[in-house]
Amino acid sequence: MRTDKNNMEPSLFVIFGATGDLSRRKLLPALARLDESSQLHERFNILAVGRYCLDENDFRATVRDALQAAGISAERSLSFVARIHYQPIFEGNDGDYQELAQRLTELDKLFDIPHNHAFYLALPPQALSSTVAGLAAAKLNRNGQGWTRLVVEKPFGRDFISARALNKLIHEHFDESQIYRIDHYLGKTTVQNLLVFRLANAFIESSWNRDRIDAVQITVGEEIGVDRRGEYYNSTGALRDMVQNHLTQLLTLVAMDTPASFSADAIHNEKIKVLNSIRPITTANAILGQYTAGKMRGKAIKGYLQESGIPADSQTETFIALKLYIDSWRWQGVPFYLRTGKRMPHKLSQIAVRFREAPIKFFEQYGCAGATSNVLIINLQPDEGFSFFFSIKRPGTTLGLERIPLRFQYADHFNGGIPDSYQALLLDILIGDQSLFVHWKEVEESWRIYTPVIDHPQKVNLYPAGTWGPMEANVFSISECALEMGCKTCA
Ligand code: BG6
Repeated sequence: MRTDKNNMEPSLFVIFGATGDLSRRKLLPALARLDESSQLHERFNILAVGRYCLDENDFRATVRDALQAAGISAERSLSFVARIHYQPIFEGNDGDYQELAQRLTELDKLFDIPHNHAFYLALPPQALSSTVAGLAAAKLNRNGQGWTRLVVEKPFGRDFISARALNKLIHEHFDESQIYRIDHYLGKTTVQNLLVFRLANAFIESSWNRDRIDAVQITVGEEIGVDRRGEYYNSTGALRDMVQNHLTQLLTLVAMDTPASFSADAIHNEKIKVLNSIRPITTANAILGQYTAGKMRGKAIKGYLQESGIPADSQTETFIALKLYIDSWRWQGVPFYLRTGKRMPHKLSQIAVRFREAPIKFFEQYGCAGATSNVLIINLQPDEGFSFFFSIKRPGTTLGLERIPLRFQYADHFNGGIPDSYQALLLDILIGDQSLFVHWKEVEESWRIYTPVIDHPQKVNLYPAGTWGPMEANVFSISECALEMGCKTCA
């Protein structure tokens, strides 16, 4: 997490898969916005690497279109694309990597870059190994002069064994200190705020344990379906696509102990300790679902099996709810519910923390029956902020209770919106701060936790598009009320 604004050096940012969707929709717009806010070094350059023979100016023109589609002005786009260069490369061809090395040398010289190179692999999983091997064969993994960093997108493997194999290959050529495993959730301001919220507010942190907290629920609901990613999604499913990475990262930030310092190592250590303490999840504690045809915002929506690229008998889950336990002093006995799904009524990423009830329910008969606990709802997106529900006495001469929220919303307090998560993460790569990236041990441990679910496929329950998942999953949630920030009143 960047705390120092001044240690940016000139560098060359090499994007593999530069003609792909991620690069066009996320990486290049995020870099252009950093350029717009003068956060890049003036000698920062981008080498776009793709599998097509393209003229550099033609490539720049396509980037300009993509930037304008992302809302960046024509003038800004024009000046930004001057930083971009293009180099074709073909998978498995050693000569191409030699040419790439040559091109890097030329660009370093031309722009007086002290051999600082970041290689961003925005590639499909099957292309990762050959690219890492190609970089190493051309001796681009360590140049002995400036820094060399390797950025790897999720999914990192598809299970414990494949993740280990991929990591072994990468570690043959790159040290852990050079590797930036990216999880874009860690770049979201509201996710970073989790630590600030916990650690800068003493009354929260002193209550953040099994003595005060009764249950925690992490929900990432998405309105979108699988769109044009049917083939990828069908071989992945919600557990691998969302839980093993994004939701697990949220869980570690909610559950970790106070780190010894705010350094990357100290934060990683605490996150790893949480993962080490999670009991492997049994199949009884996992409910899977798949959406069927339904209605959303008055529009008919097709079911998962009717989406393009999905086999008619697919058993891939588009929804999953899990119940897990962390066997630590802080969290022993507190259930953590993780829930995510596609085609939910609306987008909602939220952490709900339910506190224990008062030991004696003096006021039960005066209102809020059955809902007397305090609930903290942290909204990660949309409506970024939090609400803390607590009971008050209703005005009037009689005793009546009502549960109301104390609310904070980023939009009410800060102008200018919240930066895109990739902006924060790309800056961290350039300054060499790994605290918002995922350590190998975190990846390894998270695959271990979910292995029992992966190895024992189970029933997939159906839910209509536009609902919060299958009924069967209701047992794995704090309450209907906490999900959706309902609970406006419970009297
Ligand atoms: C990606 C998943 O990692 O995260 C997608 O592959 C998902 O399936 C996306 O839609 C959600 O990200 P966000 O930032 O929109 O919540």
